[in-house]
Amino acid sequence: MTNSIEIKNIGKKYNITHQRGSYVSLRDVITNILKNPFKHAKHKAKQILGKIENEEFWALKDINLTIKKGEIIGIIGANGAGKSTLLKLLSRITPPTTGEIKLSGRVASLLEVGTGFHPELTGRENIFLNGAILGMTKKEIVERFDDIVEFSGVKQFLDTPVKRYSSGMYVRLAFAVAAHMEPDILIVDEVLAVGDAEFQKKSLGKLDEVSKSEGRTILFVSHNMAAIQKLCKKTILLEKGRIEMFGDTEKVVDHYVTKIGSRGTEMRWEKNETPGDDVAILHSARIINENRDKIPFATANQKIGVEFVYEVLKDGYIPIPNIHIFTPTGERAFMSHEEYDKKLGAVGKHRTTMWIPENLLNDGTYVAQIVVSTMKPLRIHLSQQEALVFSVVEDIMNSQKNDFNQKVPGVVRPRLKWETVQF
Ligand SMILES: Nc1ncnc2c1ncn2[C@@H]1O[C@H](COP(=O)(O)OP(=O)(O)O)[C@@H](O)[C@H]1O
Ligand SMILES: [Mg+2]
Repeated sequence: MTNSIEIKNIGKKYNITHQRGSYVSLRDVITNILKNPFKHAKHKAKQILGKIENEEFWALKDINLTIKKGEIIGIIGANGAGKSTLLKLLSRITPPTTGEIKLSGRVASLLEVGTGFHPELTGRENIFLNGAILGMTKKEIVERFDDIVEFSGVKQFLDTPVKRYSSGMYVRLAFAVAAHMEPDILIVDEVLAVGDAEFQKKSLGKLDEVSKSEGRTILFVSHNMAAIQKLCKKTILLEKGRIEMFGDTEKVVDHYVTKIGSRGTEMRWEKNETPGDDVAILHSARIINENRDKIPFATANQKIGVEFVYEVLKDGYIPIPNIHIFTPTGERAFMSHEEYDKKLGAVGKHRTTMWIPENLLNDGTYVAQIVVSTMKPLRIHLSQQEALVFSVVEDIMNSQKNDFNQKVPGVVRPRLKWETVQF
């Protein structure tokens, strides 16, 4: 088998600039000046004046990989691990700082919303533009055009500029184009998570189909471990810009799931790291009990509160908080949202709490994804996967004796009302 992708010693460095003045107290400056008048004075004076400092940051470091033609590779890892950066390097959207990438054949990629399509052009024009970028002839594009339109389900909007599309429509069309252009290498970031459940299922099916046609290499980033396990034989686990593990999917997923299980029940995002767009950002999140105390784990027979604080920065939208609860393997237990008709668009901070009733979640570990979005047209302002990880444990001392004598199977174990009559 020949190699499809060869990555030698890849690194990607970003320069991040930030304002530091506010973090330095006057007392620190004075003490430092007294201790070492010449060395520190200039430096600290710069900081206190709020001069912008540059800091180097390696989003990827020392990446070496060889992927064979026809391999379907999963890429997993926490937020910020470098997954999207790796895909951008492979798609040649941004150059690596060090190292070398060799790709054989045509590459099609489906990256974060906002890349790939030209916003001013219509859906129809973008299909042709994308095909041309992939090196296809007009005839080849025309041959696939109907399949693409059919798969995307955006037929009515073909002659509308894509900037008017909702994020869901955008992703559907972008996926349809990437999957139908028969590339040698297909690169898919976790954008699929934006679409509705039915489309996700359909696109995973399509990926599976593409992967079975001969010689297609696929790189697939997802938080959904079930999808990774279904599609990919081998998986890469990225951690802080490095490859922590690469090998058999079962083993890599197992390692990762065990690891995220130990993440906390409280999170805070610092000023420069708040997830979100120009409309709404996320400040903090925690798991609480009925008295609103933060808890290290939840008890199955008590109410569980998933609380978060977000800030609306701009008028004109109706941001609705919603939460998705997943099992550690990425299976969605449920999602829930605030009521749509509450007017929640006011600029300022909001604290929201979703109450999970007692005796609903089974003994186990759960991962909460926090989202704030405006519906119609759908715009996702912020989406934080793995925002919180929490365990639910059986309160052995106080629970009603369970004749099952072992863990009740299932993601949920509701105490439902039964009626049985003899007749
Ligand atoms: N254009 C950029 N400038 C500065 N930092 C960036 C840029 N793009 C990504 N990063 C940073 O690089 C790290 C890796 O990001 P990314 O590849 O998007 O991670 P992932 O997709 O795994 O969540 C993050 O810390 C992110 O903040
Ligand atoms: Mg990413």
